[in-house]
Amino acid sequence: MRLMVPSVGTPIGIRDILQGLSGDEDLPEVFRRYTGVKYCYFTNSGTTAFYLILRALRTLSSRRKVVLPAYTAPSLILPIRKAGLRPALAEVSLDTFNLDVDRLEDYVDEDTLCVVPVHMFGLPCDMTGVGEIARGKGAFVVEDAASSMGSELNGRPTGTLGDLGFYSFNRGKNLTTLTGGCVVTDSDCLGDAVEGQWRKLPRPSGISRLLIPAKTVGLALAFRPLGYTLLYPIVVRFKYTELHTDFEPLAYTEFQARMGGSLFMRAGEVFRTREENGTFLYNSLSGIEGLKLPRIPPNSKVAFNQFPILLEDEAVRDSLHLRIRKELGLETTLLYPEPIHRIYDLGYDASRDPFPNSTYLARRLLLIPTHPLVRREMLERVVELIKGHLSEGSGACCRGGT
Ligand SMILES: Cc1ncc(COP(=O)(O)O)c(C=O)c1O
Repeated sequence: MRLMVPSVGTPIGIRDILQGLSGDEDLPEVFRRYTGVKYCYFTNSGTTAFYLILRALRTLSSRRKVVLPAYTAPSLILPIRKAGLRPALAEVSLDTFNLDVDRLEDYVDEDTLCVVPVHMFGLPCDMTGVGEIARGKGAFVVEDAASSMGSELNGRPTGTLGDLGFYSFNRGKNLTTLTGGCVVTDSDCLGDAVEGQWRKLPRPSGISRLLIPAKTVGLALAFRPLGYTLLYPIVVRFKYTELHTDFEPLAYTEFQARMGGSLFMRAGEVFRTREENGTFLYNSLSGIEGLKLPRIPPNSKVAFNQFPILLEDEAVRDSLHLRIRKELGLETTLLYPEPIHRIYDLGYDASRDPFPNSTYLARRLLLIPTHPLVRREMLERVVELIKGHLSEGSGACCRGGT
Protein backbone atom coordinates (compact mmCIF):
# COMPACT_ATOMS: atom_id res chain seq x y z
CA MET A 1 0.00 0.00 0.00
CA ARG A 2 1.43 3.40 -0.97
CA LEU A 3 1.04 5.99 1.79
CA MET A 4 -0.56 9.32 0.96
CA VAL A 5 0.96 12.49 2.36
CA PRO A 6 -1.57 15.21 3.23
CA SER A 7 -1.10 18.86 2.28
CA VAL A 8 -1.08 19.90 5.94
CA GLY A 9 0.45 18.37 9.05
CA THR A 10 1.71 19.24 12.50
CA PRO A 11 3.09 16.36 14.53
CA ILE A 12 0.73 16.43 17.54
CA GLY A 13 1.63 13.53 19.84
CA ILE A 14 -0.08 11.69 22.70
CA ARG A 15 2.12 13.64 25.10
CA ASP A 16 0.71 16.96 23.81
CA ILE A 17 -2.85 15.73 24.17
CA LEU A 18 -2.20 14.50 27.73
CA GLN A 19 -0.59 17.84 28.54
CA GLY A 20 -3.73 19.47 27.16
CA LEU A 21 -5.85 17.51 29.61
CA SER A 22 -3.77 18.19 32.70
CA GLY A 23 -0.43 19.83 31.88
CA ASP A 24 1.15 23.00 33.16
CA GLU A 25 2.52 24.56 29.96
CA ASP A 26 0.52 27.51 28.76
CA LEU A 27 0.62 28.66 25.13
CA PRO A 28 -0.17 32.32 25.84
CA GLU A 29 2.80 32.50 28.19
CA VAL A 30 5.19 30.63 25.88
CA PHE A 31 3.98 32.60 22.88
CA ARG A 32 4.56 35.93 24.60
CA ARG A 33 8.17 34.90 25.12
CA TYR A 34 8.50 33.77 21.48
CA THR A 35 7.08 36.98 20.00
CA GLY A 36 8.70 39.22 22.60
CA VAL A 37 5.60 41.48 22.69
CA LYS A 38 3.80 42.78 25.76
CA TYR A 39 0.26 41.70 24.87
CA CYS A 40 -1.09 38.40 23.47
CA TYR A 41 -4.82 37.59 23.37
CA PHE A 42 -5.90 34.11 22.35
CA THR A 43 -9.21 33.36 20.60
CA ASN A 44 -10.99 30.48 18.85
CA SER A 45 -9.68 31.45 15.37
CA GLY A 46 -7.51 33.80 13.36
CA THR A 47 -10.72 35.29 11.99
CA THR A 48 -11.87 36.17 15.51
CA ALA A 49 -8.43 37.60 16.31
CA PHE A 50 -8.69 39.90 13.27
CA TYR A 51 -12.26 40.82 14.26
CA LEU A 52 -11.14 41.84 17.78
CA ILE A 53 -8.45 44.05 16.27
CA LEU A 54 -10.95 45.75 13.97
CA ARG A 55 -13.46 46.27 16.79
CA ALA A 56 -10.70 47.71 18.93
CA LEU A 57 -9.53 50.08 16.18
CA ARG A 58 -13.11 51.25 15.67
CA THR A 59 -13.16 52.48 19.25
CA LEU A 60 -10.10 54.62 18.46
CA SER A 61 -10.94 56.05 15.03
CA SER A 62 -13.91 57.00 12.87
CA ARG A 63 -12.22 55.79 9.67
CA ARG A 64 -13.94 52.94 7.86
CA LYS A 65 -11.71 51.49 5.14
CA VAL A 66 -9.62 48.32 5.53
CA VAL A 67 -7.06 47.78 2.74
CA LEU A 68 -6.03 44.18 2.06
CA PRO A 69 -4.59 42.22 -0.87
CA ALA A 70 -7.01 41.09 -3.59
CA TYR A 71 -5.30 37.70 -3.58
CA THR A 72 -5.45 36.23 -0.08
CA ALA A 73 -7.78 34.27 2.23
CA PRO A 74 -11.30 35.34 1.17
CA SER A 75 -12.59 34.75 4.73
CA LEU A 76 -10.88 38.01 5.79
CA ILE A 77 -13.87 39.84 4.35
CA LEU A 78 -16.19 38.41 7.02
CA PRO A 79 -14.69 40.08 10.12
CA ILE A 80 -14.31 43.36 8.22
CA ARG A 81 -18.01 43.39 7.40
CA LYS A 82 -19.05 42.11 10.82
CA ALA A 83 -17.11 44.98 12.40
CA GLY A 84 -19.11 47.43 10.23
CA LEU A 85 -16.10 48.36 8.10
CA ARG A 86 -15.48 48.50 4.35
CA PRO A 87 -13.00 46.20 2.58
CA ALA A 88 -10.87 47.83 -0.14
CA LEU A 89 -8.60 45.61 -2.21
CA ALA A 90 -5.06 46.29 -3.37
CA GLU A 91 -3.12 44.58 -6.17
CA VAL A 92 -0.42 41.97 -5.47
CA SER A 93 2.99 41.53 -7.07
CA LEU A 94 3.88 38.63 -9.36
CA ASP A 95 7.44 38.83 -8.01
CA THR A 96 6.76 38.54 -4.29
CA PHE A 97 3.23 36.97 -4.35
CA ASN A 98 2.41 39.54 -1.63
CA LEU A 99 0.97 43.09 -1.65
CA ASP A 100 2.57 45.18 -4.39
CA VAL A 101 4.09 47.85 -2.18
CA ASP A 102 5.02 50.00 -5.19
CA ARG A 103 1.33 50.44 -5.93
CA LEU A 104 -0.06 50.44 -2.40
CA GLU A 105 -0.20 54.22 -2.21
CA ASP A 106 -2.98 54.22 -4.85
CA TYR A 107 -5.32 52.42 -2.45
CA VAL A 108 -4.64 54.17 0.89
CA ASP A 109 -6.36 57.46 1.76
CA GLU A 110 -7.61 59.59 4.67
CA ASP A 111 -10.49 57.17 5.32
CA THR A 112 -8.18 54.15 5.66
CA LEU A 113 -8.38 52.74 9.16
CA CYS A 114 -5.73 50.09 8.55
CA VAL A 115 -3.62 48.36 5.94
CA VAL A 116 -3.40 44.58 6.24
CA PRO A 117 -0.22 43.07 4.76
CA VAL A 118 -0.61 39.28 4.63
CA HIS A 119 2.58 37.19 4.71
CA MET A 120 1.37 34.68 2.15
CA PHE A 121 2.63 31.08 2.50
CA GLY A 122 5.09 32.29 5.17
CA LEU A 123 6.81 34.80 2.86
CA PRO A 124 7.38 38.07 4.73
CA CYS A 125 5.88 41.13 3.08
CA ASP A 126 7.96 44.34 2.79
CA MET A 127 6.95 45.83 6.14
CA THR A 128 9.11 48.93 5.82
CA GLY A 129 7.35 49.90 2.60
CA VAL A 130 3.88 49.14 3.99
CA GLY A 131 4.65 51.02 7.23
CA GLU A 132 5.79 54.17 5.43
CA ILE A 133 2.70 54.36 3.22
CA ALA A 134 0.26 53.59 6.04
CA ARG A 135 1.89 56.04 8.44
CA GLY A 136 1.91 58.71 5.72
CA LYS A 137 -1.91 58.56 5.73
CA GLY A 138 -2.33 58.04 9.47
CA ALA A 139 -3.53 54.42 9.06
CA PHE A 140 -2.67 51.49 11.34
CA VAL A 141 -0.72 48.45 10.09
CA VAL A 142 -2.34 45.13 11.03
CA GLU A 143 -0.18 42.17 10.05
CA ASP A 144 -1.85 38.95 9.01
CA ALA A 145 0.69 36.36 10.14
CA ALA A 146 -1.87 33.53 10.04
CA SER A 147 0.32 31.51 7.67
CA SER A 148 3.73 32.80 8.65
CA MET A 149 4.28 31.76 12.25
CA GLY A 150 8.00 31.08 12.55
CA SER A 151 9.02 33.41 9.70
CA GLU A 152 11.24 36.37 10.49
CA LEU A 153 12.22 39.66 8.93
CA ASN A 154 15.32 41.49 10.12
CA GLY A 155 15.55 39.12 13.06
CA ARG A 156 12.00 39.71 14.30
CA PRO A 157 9.01 37.32 14.04
CA THR A 158 6.40 38.22 11.44
CA GLY A 159 3.28 39.38 13.25
CA THR A 160 5.29 41.72 15.48
CA LEU A 161 6.36 44.23 12.83
CA GLY A 162 3.20 46.32 12.53
CA ASP A 163 1.01 48.12 15.09
CA LEU A 164 -0.85 44.88 15.71
CA GLY A 165 -0.61 41.37 14.30
CA PHE A 166 -2.58 38.17 14.36
CA TYR A 167 -1.91 34.44 13.94
CA SER A 168 -4.02 31.37 13.25
CA PHE A 169 -3.64 27.95 14.86
CA ASN A 170 -6.11 26.21 12.55
CA ARG A 171 -5.32 22.74 11.22
CA GLY A 172 -3.56 24.01 8.08
CA LYS A 173 -1.17 26.36 9.83
CA ASN A 174 2.50 26.07 10.77
CA LEU A 175 1.52 24.93 14.24
CA THR A 176 -2.01 23.87 15.05
CA THR A 177 -4.17 23.44 18.13
CA LEU A 178 -7.07 22.30 15.90
CA THR A 179 -8.46 25.83 15.86
CA GLY A 180 -7.29 29.05 17.46
CA GLY A 181 -5.98 32.51 16.88
CA CYS A 182 -4.02 35.19 18.65
CA VAL A 183 -3.66 38.98 18.60
CA VAL A 184 -0.30 40.50 19.48
CA THR A 185 0.75 44.08 20.05
CA ASP A 186 3.43 45.95 21.92
CA SER A 187 1.40 49.12 22.32
CA ASP A 188 -0.25 49.80 25.70
CA CYS A 189 -3.06 51.77 24.13
CA LEU A 190 -3.82 49.17 21.42
CA GLY A 191 -3.40 46.34 23.94
CA ASP A 192 -5.99 48.00 26.20
CA ALA A 193 -8.43 48.45 23.33
CA VAL A 194 -8.08 44.79 22.23
CA GLU A 195 -8.35 43.55 25.80
CA GLY A 196 -11.66 45.38 26.17
CA GLN A 197 -13.05 43.41 23.22
CA TRP A 198 -11.38 40.14 24.20
CA ARG A 199 -12.98 40.16 27.65
CA LYS A 200 -16.41 40.15 26.02
CA LEU A 201 -15.79 36.88 24.12
CA PRO A 202 -18.10 34.08 25.28
CA ARG A 203 -16.65 30.67 26.16
CA PRO A 204 -17.42 27.82 23.76
CA SER A 205 -20.32 25.63 24.93
CA GLY A 206 -19.64 22.65 27.23
CA ILE A 207 -20.20 20.24 24.33
CA SER A 208 -17.69 22.06 22.11
CA ARG A 209 -15.15 22.09 24.94
CA LEU A 210 -15.55 18.30 25.22
CA LEU A 211 -15.38 17.79 21.47
CA ILE A 212 -12.15 19.75 20.97
CA PRO A 213 -9.90 17.10 22.64
CA ALA A 214 -11.70 14.32 20.74
CA LYS A 215 -11.33 16.14 17.42
CA THR A 216 -7.68 16.82 18.18
CA VAL A 217 -7.04 13.08 18.60
CA GLY A 218 -8.78 12.59 15.22
CA LEU A 219 -6.62 15.29 13.64
CA ALA A 220 -3.42 13.81 15.09
CA LEU A 221 -4.27 10.42 13.55
CA ALA A 222 -5.84 11.56 10.29
CA PHE A 223 -3.04 13.89 9.26
CA ARG A 224 -0.25 11.33 9.46
CA PRO A 225 0.48 9.44 6.26
CA LEU A 226 -0.81 6.05 7.55
CA GLY A 227 -3.94 7.54 9.12
CA TYR A 228 -4.50 9.77 6.12
CA THR A 229 -4.25 6.86 3.69
CA LEU A 230 -6.71 4.74 5.68
CA LEU A 231 -9.11 7.58 6.49
CA TYR A 232 -8.88 9.41 3.15
CA PRO A 233 -12.47 8.64 2.04
CA ILE A 234 -13.76 10.24 5.28
CA VAL A 235 -11.24 13.09 5.52
CA VAL A 236 -11.83 14.23 1.95
CA ARG A 237 -15.48 14.95 2.74
CA PHE A 238 -14.40 17.56 5.30
CA LYS A 239 -11.67 19.12 3.20
CA TYR A 240 -13.44 21.00 0.45
CA THR A 241 -16.02 22.96 2.35
CA GLU A 242 -18.26 25.73 1.12
CA LEU A 243 -17.16 29.32 1.45
CA HIS A 244 -17.87 30.47 5.01
CA THR A 245 -20.59 33.06 5.31
CA ASP A 246 -20.19 33.80 9.03
CA PHE A 247 -18.06 32.93 12.05
CA GLU A 248 -18.61 32.81 15.79
CA PRO A 249 -16.22 34.88 17.89
CA LEU A 250 -15.38 32.79 20.95
CA ALA A 251 -12.68 32.39 23.59
CA TYR A 252 -9.84 29.86 23.35
CA THR A 253 -10.13 26.76 25.53
CA GLU A 254 -7.87 25.76 28.42
CA PHE A 255 -7.23 22.39 26.73
CA GLN A 256 -5.88 24.12 23.62
CA ALA A 257 -3.79 26.55 25.64
CA ARG A 258 -2.11 23.69 27.55
CA MET A 259 -1.72 21.43 24.53
CA GLY A 260 -0.35 24.33 22.47
CA GLY A 261 2.13 25.10 25.24
CA SER A 262 3.46 21.53 25.04
CA LEU A 263 3.53 21.58 21.23
CA PHE A 264 5.30 24.92 21.13
CA MET A 265 8.31 23.34 22.87
CA ARG A 266 9.06 21.74 19.47
CA ALA A 267 8.12 24.81 17.43
CA GLY A 268 11.73 25.70 16.59
CA GLU A 269 12.27 22.28 15.03
CA VAL A 270 8.98 22.44 13.08
CA PHE A 271 9.75 25.93 11.73
CA ARG A 272 13.30 24.89 10.80
CA THR A 273 12.06 21.85 8.85
CA ARG A 274 9.56 24.02 6.98
CA GLU A 275 12.35 26.42 6.11
CA GLU A 276 14.72 23.62 5.02
CA ASN A 277 12.08 21.92 2.86
CA GLY A 278 11.21 25.25 1.23
CA THR A 279 14.88 26.06 0.63
CA PHE A 280 15.42 22.65 -0.96
CA LEU A 281 12.46 23.24 -3.32
CA TYR A 282 13.63 26.77 -4.05
CA ASN A 283 17.14 25.66 -5.00
CA SER A 284 15.92 22.65 -7.00
CA LEU A 285 13.25 24.48 -8.97
CA SER A 286 15.03 27.78 -9.70
CA GLY A 287 15.57 28.74 -13.32
CA ILE A 288 13.12 26.26 -14.89
CA GLU A 289 11.28 27.56 -17.92
CA GLY A 290 7.49 27.86 -17.52
CA LEU A 291 7.71 28.11 -13.75
CA LYS A 292 8.25 31.12 -11.50
CA LEU A 293 9.23 31.22 -7.84
CA PRO A 294 8.61 34.07 -5.38
CA ARG A 295 11.39 36.51 -4.57
CA ILE A 296 12.60 35.82 -1.04
CA PRO A 297 13.00 39.12 0.87
CA PRO A 298 16.52 39.97 2.05
CA ASN A 299 17.24 39.43 5.76
CA SER A 300 14.37 37.02 6.11
CA LYS A 301 13.82 33.53 7.41
CA VAL A 302 10.86 31.81 5.77
CA ALA A 303 8.95 29.09 7.64
CA PHE A 304 7.02 28.02 4.54
CA ASN A 305 3.43 27.11 5.25
CA GLN A 306 3.45 25.60 1.77
CA PHE A 307 5.88 26.25 -1.08
CA PRO A 308 4.24 28.25 -3.91
CA ILE A 309 5.19 27.73 -7.54
CA LEU A 310 3.62 29.80 -10.32
CA LEU A 311 3.00 27.93 -13.59
CA GLU A 312 2.72 30.05 -16.71
CA ASP A 313 0.13 27.70 -18.12
CA GLU A 314 -3.04 27.11 -16.12
CA ALA A 315 -3.67 23.71 -17.71
CA VAL A 316 -0.12 22.58 -16.85
CA ARG A 317 -0.72 23.63 -13.24
CA ASP A 318 -3.93 21.59 -13.07
CA SER A 319 -2.40 18.50 -14.64
CA LEU A 320 0.67 18.68 -12.35
CA HIS A 321 -1.62 18.86 -9.33
CA LEU A 322 -3.33 15.64 -10.41
CA ARG A 323 -0.12 13.84 -11.43
CA ILE A 324 1.70 14.54 -8.16
CA ARG A 325 -1.19 13.05 -6.19
CA LYS A 326 -1.72 10.10 -8.51
CA GLU A 327 1.90 9.13 -9.07
CA LEU A 328 3.53 10.11 -5.78
CA GLY A 329 0.63 10.16 -3.29
CA LEU A 330 1.50 13.72 -2.23
CA GLU A 331 -1.33 16.19 -1.94
CA THR A 332 -0.60 19.61 -3.43
CA THR A 333 -3.08 22.49 -3.14
CA LEU A 334 -4.70 24.96 -5.52
CA LEU A 335 -5.27 28.07 -3.46
CA TYR A 336 -7.36 30.24 -3.51
CA PRO A 337 -9.81 29.28 -6.24
CA GLU A 338 -10.37 32.93 -7.18
CA PRO A 339 -9.18 36.35 -5.97
CA ILE A 340 -11.44 38.12 -3.50
CA HIS A 341 -13.12 40.51 -5.98
CA ARG A 342 -14.35 37.51 -7.97
CA ILE A 343 -15.76 35.81 -4.88
CA TYR A 344 -17.50 38.67 -3.09
CA ASP A 345 -19.35 41.56 -4.66
CA LEU A 346 -17.37 44.49 -3.27
CA GLY A 347 -18.60 46.94 -5.88
CA TYR A 348 -15.79 46.54 -8.43
CA ASP A 349 -16.61 46.89 -12.10
CA ALA A 350 -17.07 43.31 -13.36
CA SER A 351 -16.49 44.23 -17.02
CA ARG A 352 -12.76 44.83 -16.52
CA ASP A 353 -10.41 43.16 -14.06
CA PRO A 354 -9.07 45.75 -11.57
CA PHE A 355 -6.62 43.19 -10.11
CA PRO A 356 -5.24 41.09 -12.97
CA ASN A 357 -2.16 39.92 -11.03
CA SER A 358 -4.41 38.56 -8.28
CA THR A 359 -6.50 36.65 -10.82
CA TYR A 360 -3.31 35.37 -12.48
CA LEU A 361 -1.94 34.06 -9.17
CA ALA A 362 -5.19 32.41 -8.09
CA ARG A 363 -5.39 30.48 -11.35
CA ARG A 364 -1.75 29.45 -11.69
CA LEU A 365 -0.31 28.80 -8.25
CA LEU A 366 0.42 25.30 -7.07
CA LEU A 367 1.36 24.79 -3.43
CA ILE A 368 3.72 22.01 -2.37
CA PRO A 369 3.59 20.85 1.28
CA THR A 370 6.61 21.64 3.44
CA HIS A 371 5.42 20.30 6.80
CA PRO A 372 7.60 17.97 8.89
CA LEU A 373 5.77 14.82 7.78
CA VAL A 374 6.97 15.25 4.17
CA ARG A 375 10.22 13.39 3.68
CA ARG A 376 13.11 14.76 1.63
CA GLU A 377 12.96 11.78 -0.80
CA MET A 378 9.36 12.70 -1.53
CA LEU A 379 10.36 16.28 -2.35
CA GLU A 380 13.17 14.99 -4.59
CA ARG A 381 10.62 12.93 -6.51
CA VAL A 382 8.29 15.93 -6.79
CA VAL A 383 11.11 18.00 -8.27
CA GLU A 384 11.88 15.28 -10.83
CA LEU A 385 8.22 14.95 -11.75
CA ILE A 386 7.80 18.73 -12.19
CA LYS A 387 10.93 18.99 -14.35
CA GLY A 388 9.84 16.05 -16.49
CA HIS A 389 6.29 17.36 -16.81
CA LEU A 390 7.42 20.82 -17.89
CA SER A 391 9.90 19.54 -20.43
CA GLU A 392 7.21 17.23 -21.89
CA GLY A 393 4.80 20.20 -21.93
CA SER A 394 7.20 22.57 -23.68
CA GLY A 395 8.15 19.79 -26.13
CA ALA A 396 4.49 19.29 -26.99
CA CYS A 397 4.07 23.04 -27.31
CA CYS A 398 7.03 23.31 -29.73
CA ARG A 399 5.83 20.30 -31.70
CA GLY A 400 2.46 22.01 -32.05
CA GLY A 401 4.29 25.05 -33.42
CA THR A 402 2.67 27.48 -30.97
C1 LIG B 1 -3.91 34.37 5.42
C2 LIG B 1 -5.00 33.96 6.37
N1 LIG B 1 -5.56 34.88 7.19
C3 LIG B 1 -6.52 34.54 8.07
C4 LIG B 1 -7.00 33.25 8.16
C5 LIG B 1 -8.10 32.92 9.14
O1 LIG B 1 -7.67 32.05 10.14
P1 LIG B 1 -8.68 31.02 10.85
O2 LIG B 1 -8.95 29.90 9.91
O3 LIG B 1 -7.96 30.56 12.08
O4 LIG B 1 -9.90 31.77 11.17
C6 LIG B 1 -6.46 32.28 7.33
C7 LIG B 1 -6.97 30.90 7.41
O5 LIG B 1 -6.76 30.03 6.66
C8 LIG B 1 -5.42 32.64 6.42
O6 LIG B 1 -4.85 31.73 5.61
